[in-house]
Order: sequence, then C-alpha cells, then structure tokens
Amino acid sequence: MPSRSEIAYFGAGPAPLPTAAIEQSAQAFVNFQDTGLSLAEISHRSPTANKILSDAKDALATLYDIPTDEYDVLFMQAGGTGEFSATVQNLVGYWIEKRRRKAIAELGEGKDAEVLDRVKREVEAELKVDYLVTGSWSLKASQEASRLLGAKYVNVAVDARKSNNGKFGKIPDEKEWKLTPKGSAFTYYCDNETVDGVEFPGFPKSLESTTGAGEDDDERIVVADMSSNFLSRKIDVRKFGVIFGGAQKNLGITGITVVIIRKSLLSLVPPPTFLHALSPVLPTSGALPPIIFSFSTIASNNSLYNTLPIFNLYVATVVLQMLVSTFGQKKVSGQEEVADRKAALIYGALDAHPDTYHVVPDKSVRSRMNICFRIISGTPSDGQVVADEAKEKAFLAGAEKRGLLGLKGHRSVGGMRASNYNAVLLESAQKLADYLVEFAKS
Ligand SMILES: Cc1ncc(COP(=O)(O)O)c(C=O)c1O
Repeated sequence: MPSRSEIAYFGAGPAPLPTAAIEQSAQAFVNFQDTGLSLAEISHRSPTANKILSDAKDALATLYDIPTDEYDVLFMQAGGTGEFSATVQNLVGYWIEKRRRKAIAELGEGKDAEVLDRVKREVEAELKVDYLVTGSWSLKASQEASRLLGAKYVNVAVDARKSNNGKFGKIPDEKEWKLTPKGSAFTYYCDNETVDGVEFPGFPKSLESTTGAGEDDDERIVVADMSSNFLSRKIDVRKFGVIFGGAQKNLGITGITVVIIRKSLLSLVPPPTFLHALSPVLPTSGALPPIIFSFSTIASNNSLYNTLPIFNLYVATVVLQMLVSTFGQKKVSGQEEVADRKAALIYGALDAHPDTYHVVPDKSVRSRMNICFRIISGTPSDGQVVADEAKEKAFLAGAEKRGLLGLKGHRSVGGMRASNYNAVLLESAQKLADYLVEFAKS
C-alpha cells in the first residue's frame, strides 16, 4: 500500500487537501481540542461552532481583501449545483422587488392590482438573465435557469461551441457576445470550466460597466461560479454581485458551499404572495427560493438557519488559515504565483512535445487548474487532431505505476485532465512534467 507522500493526486474534485489540514481535521474529528468530543458531535449553535464560522470568514476576507462593510460571506449546502438555482431565484426576486417598489412609489399605496399588472407587463417585456456559456458547467447553469424561469427569459449571450466546431475550448471575442442591451437581472459566467479546461484570463471587459447600455438601464450584477479556481488568484470582489463555489476543490471537503455576496442584494425580497400572483407570467419557482436557498435568510441567520456541517466548515477554516499564514502579506497572490508555476511546468512539458500531446483548449483560455490534453500519434497533415486511445491507456497505466493518480479526463470529453488545485504540491507538478517528457520520448 502506498503512503500519502508517494502519491501525487490530480483528481478534479473532490481534490487533494494539504496533508497538515487532513491531520489537524482528523484529530478534531476524534477529539476536538481535548474536549472529549468529536467536532462532528457538537452543536452548530455552540460558541465553538460560532468561533469556527467567524475564523473562516475572517481568513477568507483577509485572503481576498473582501470589503466586509459591503459584502457578506455565506456558508451554504447543496454544492455549486445548488447555487445554479439559488442565484436565479434570489436575483430574479431582487429584480422583481425593485420593480414592485418603483410601481408602488409611482402609482401610490393600496393600488395592488395596478402594481401587479404593471410588474407583470415589465416581466414579460424586460426580464432577462444573461449567461456566458463557455463550458459544461455554465451550460448546466443556463439550463437550470431555463427550467426555473422558462427559456424565454434566458439570454445565452455567447455559446462558445458555436465558433469552435461544436466543442468547448475557446472564449469568443467579447465583441461577439450578445448581452441584453438594456441590462439584465444578472450576467452569469463560470470563471473556470472544470470539465473543459477553459478559464477566463481575467474579469471580462464588457462586464466592467455598472449598468446596461443606457442611463435608465438595470444595474449590472455579475455572478461568477468559482468552484474550481477559488482562491487561486487575486480578484477584485467589488466587481461581482455574487461569487460562489463548492468547497471540494481548493477549499475543503464536500458539503460546504461558499457565497460571497454584495450586501445590497440581500435587502430587497419580494413578498411570496406577490410572486404567487405573478404566475403564469413568471413561474413562482423562478423567483421564490426554497427557504434554505434564500440568501437573505441565510445571511440574517449568520449561515445557521439550519444545521450547518461544522466539521466540514472546520476543514475549510483550517485550509483558509493555513493559506493566510503561508502567504502572509501576499495573501491570495502568493497562491496565484504557486499555481502559475505549477501550471507552467505541466503545460511546458506538453508544449515541448507537440507530436505526442495536444492541449485541448485554445492557448488564450487555458485553465491553470484543469489541464486537459490528448495523446496523439504524430501531427496530422490536415490539422485534424486524432487521439490515440491505446496510447492514452498506456499513459494512464504508466502514471499509476509512478503514483500519479486521477489523470483520466471527464467521462463526457475523454482524454486526460491534470487538475492542478492548490493542494497539489510543486513537487507533484514536477513529477508529472517529468513523466510527460519520459512518455513522449518512449
Ligand atoms: C465549475 C463547477 N461548477 C459547479 C460544479 C457543481 O458542483 P457540485 O457538484 O458541488 O454541485 C462543479 C463540480 O465539479 C464545477 O466544477
């Protein structure tokens, strides 16, 4: 049986954790700080749990420079997938409540029927949510929006497959994006597409403006799924309305989802009866989240509306505090430097052997976290890349012998995927790079 130190694990999620974090958490699971109890046994409302929660928030705020007067951090459950639904329901609710209040202000109190009628007309004429579909996860998120709202309200501003032979792997030029001109309830994108190995190089320029094209347009609210590149580079939190991510890649173990949300978005929540009355113009499911997905409910209960898995949160807290102490003043930029170095090692080995390896996504959008490649039999003259599946099998078998695990690509796309998450050591990336060179020469 191999020991942990002999294994280099490149799984796409759940992903490796720092060994020290696993050891500290294992101890807490058995006997937390000599209390004689497992952390999994204590109340989520205890002072201990509250301390873990506030430590997690503090460490995250430090790493990302979160302006805590303007932003809240929520810990939720149901993973990234849960947020596909929650973001739609909460932010469409926010959009509706703004319209409802404006209608009341202009039509006067007590004009319920007129207010309802006006908002119904506005929903039909103006409600849109914008999605940038650049890979499998943003595609799924946009499909969930269509399921909840109805497809007519969902604007796929870009479908990256259309300009790349039906496959994900490029992000079309922003000039080609068809964002809703007068603005939308929100604009959604996935910062790093885990399955397809596509990462936005930075914050999209066309989402920089705070509104749509004109003065009376909706404010621009940007939602980003950072499940698979969370805490791997510096971001300007102020550019986002909502950032979310499941913990099980760069942060901790499955069971905790982080949401960083602009506080102003928590303040406008439409009455459920008003949403009921909007149907069938808008399905009630489109803007009325189950209570457990209600951002304002979770925020006003300090993430403890119901039983939060405190042990899972603790693992994330340990990881966060380790990042704070490892990178000090550099904060998340320190982790970014390491991530970039590891990615450069692996891509460097792949690029040095173009007759053996084909990196799937375009160079301009290569993910630093999920490195997707195929093994080919020489460079074909017609430019068409044909994967050599027998060689891919041999590659994986050889990798396994060397303790390089978790390299098989997602079942929907095949090939190889080396996930270079935060806990993957520089030595592990080097080991993989060495094997890539060795295999290419063999
Ligand atoms: C980018 C991204 N978003 C969302 C999800 C879905 O997350 P979950 O499985 O936690 O629901 C994943 C899962 O791998 C992901 O990689």
